[in-house]
Amino acid sequence: MQPTPHLLLDETMLRGATLALIPGDPGRVPRMAKHLTEACPLKSSREYLSYWGLVSGHPVIICSTGIGGPSTAIAIEELAQCGVRTFIRVGTTGAIQPTIRVGDVIVTQAAVRLEGTSSHFAPLEFPAVADHDVTSALIQAAIASRATHHVGITVTSDTFYPGQERYDTFSGRVLPRFQGSIEQWRSLGALNFEMEAATVLTMTRVFGLRAGCVLGVIANRTQSEAIDGGAVETTEELAIRVAIGAASRLLAEQP
Ligand code: URA
Repeated sequence: MQPTPHLLLDETMLRGATLALIPGDPGRVPRMAKHLTEACPLKSSREYLSYWGLVSGHPVIICSTGIGGPSTAIAIEELAQCGVRTFIRVGTTGAIQPTIRVGDVIVTQAAVRLEGTSSHFAPLEFPAVADHDVTSALIQAAIASRATHHVGITVTSDTFYPGQERYDTFSGRVLPRFQGSIEQWRSLGALNFEMEAATVLTMTRVFGLRAGCVLGVIANRTQSEAIDGGAVETTEELAIRVAIGAASRLLAEQP
């Protein structure tokens, strides 16, 4: 096959990897690669940085998705073309339940499709649901990592600011549709806001692939609009450990 147009990857470069760890941030990719053996960089193009390596002796790929649905959809599509069948999103998030603390991790069971990209793959009535086995592996890995973790519904927004009801912005404007939305989603039991899970879960589900999602909490929106800068690195590292632990469990179950 020709290398894919955005990720610049082909199936031979993946050397048998069928599981992808997909952070949003390309800067997180080399940090994640330190947890692999025989890790080596593959390609770098726009927001997409990829590495190959081994988890518990099995080949995996790490590839960033960039922020938001459109760039994530390209990554999922092209990784699937290259042979990836299992996706683990590793990201950061703002919690909307007062009991969830900065430094905890969230394992997404399902996502509210408050974004546009997933509607190019399935009508809005279709649920964005994580794969049971991937979710179960993430929960087991969180327990093994002694991470305080929460399992539930994530709200995926196309915007970091108005769609997550942030007022501390250039315009200060939040459209009526989003005013009070933190309280709305909180009272409905959703745990957190982020920007990619619904796209990943909808696409993989309709493609017949599997995906799960683990997110490190770097803000609590019931207390502040701001990200807790001091907590970002350690929280990301915890989410990475959980994701790699889950990958190891899933790969061990492979025939
Ligand atoms: N990512 C988001 O989308 N929102 C937050 O508040 C933090 C990380």
